[in-house]
Order: sequence, then structure tokens, then C-alpha cells
Amino acid sequence: MSNFFPSIYDLAMRPLEKRKFQQIRKELLSHAAGRVLEIGAGTGINFPLYKNAEHVDAIEPNQGMIEQSHARKAAAAVPIQVHQQSAESLDFPDDTFDTVVSTLVFCTIPDPVKALQELSRVSKPQTKLLFFEHVKMEHPTLAFAQEALNPLWKRVCDGCHLNRDTLHTIQESGLQVTNVTSYYKGLFLVIESENNKAIDHPSL
Ligand SMILES: C[S@@+](CC[C@H](N)C(=O)[O-])C[C@H]1O[C@@H](n2cnc3c(N)ncnc32)[C@H](O)[C@@H]1O
Repeated sequence: MSNFFPSIYDLAMRPLEKRKFQQIRKELLSHAAGRVLEIGAGTGINFPLYKNAEHVDAIEPNQGMIEQSHARKAAAAVPIQVHQQSAESLDFPDDTFDTVVSTLVFCTIPDPVKALQELSRVSKPQTKLLFFEHVKMEHPTLAFAQEALNPLWKRVCDGCHLNRDTLHTIQESGLQVTNVTSYYKGLFLVIESENNKAIDHPSL
């Protein structure tokens, strides 16, 4: 599945991208500045939208996805380096990044809690962590339908879960959620958050 999924991903997403997602991504990524970490970058759909970043380190575990992202990386307005890594085990030092970006990734990450710990570790104090994710809906009937569809969906969509409460997981991680915007009756959320970890003052 993981070799087939990258080759159809952009085509499958095109209707949503045209209708709404490109606009959401553009607005979200206008807040990405300084040294940026993007996790689960996939086919590099966000790469053309970075305008204010100094440098983007994009991590992606799936080699097929990385191959699909080459052209967008080469055409980007800012320097982008793609690394084959997973969000649960990041090969970057503590306090490295000014902004962290995740779009449609927390549905798929096998261990979201561990991934958030890693994002917190590699981000500087006051780093912005910007998420655009699909989540379990609040409406009981729609949430029931998501639960029912989930086993099949996971198999067809390369491990993607329809029933994750990612906002709650982010809130529980200790990040401070500063803004939430809902789309499509709460199926998609833009979650803006900040890392509140203490600034480490070296002893004099
Ligand atoms: C639905 S795609 C989203 C791709 C892209 N971010 C977007 O906005 O279209 C989910 C991506 O997360 C990646 N992924 C899966 N497990 C991951 C992990 N543990 N760490 C980081 N990325 C992961 C997948 O390989 C895939 O590229």
C-alpha cells in the first residue's frame, strides 16, 4: 500500500485542495517563520507556500512520498531539506526550531503522544506549532459513522484514522492552544499552539 498511496495522493486530494485546502494552507503557513520543521511532509504540497521561513527541515518516513516531493522542493522559494525520519524519533537537537508545521499528519502517526513530546523537545521556548488536522467530529451520528468507517479507511488510506481527538491530545501534551478554527462542521481543525517551556538561562 505504501508504494501505491504516494502516487495517487495528490490526485485524490485535488478537489479538496481546489475548494478550500490551498487557502487554509496558505493562511497557516504565512505564520511559519525562522527555522521551520514540517513533519509528515508527504508529496511536498506545502513547499510552494513557504514565503517567510529562513529554512525548512521537512521530515517524512515514506520513501515513495519523498520521491513525489522532489519537484516541489526544487521549485520552492526558500531552502528546504527533506529527511527520512518519523515524528516520534527526531534526529535534531533540543531547542532547534522557531516554527513547527503539521498538516493532515496526526491522523496517521502511530504514536501521537510520543510525537508531541518530540516536537516539544526540538522546538524553542515560544515556538509556534501550527496544525491542520482532521479529527473525530462532535456530532454523535457523524462521530459514529467515523468509528464505523475507521477500520476500512485505515487499510485504504495508509494507516489514516478517522476517529482521533487530536485537539485533546495536543491540549494534554502541555502545549498552549492559542486558537482553533473549524471547517466542514468540525471535521477539519486549524490548531495554533505555542510551546511554553521555560527559557533555559545558563548559570553565570
Ligand atoms: C495524509 S498524508 C499528509 C501529507 C501532507 N502533510 C499533506 O498535508 O498533504 C500523512 C503523511 O504522514 C506521514 N507519516 C506517517 N507516519 C508518520 C510518522 N510517524 N512521522 C511523520 N510522518 C508520518 C505519511 O507518510 C504521509 O506522508
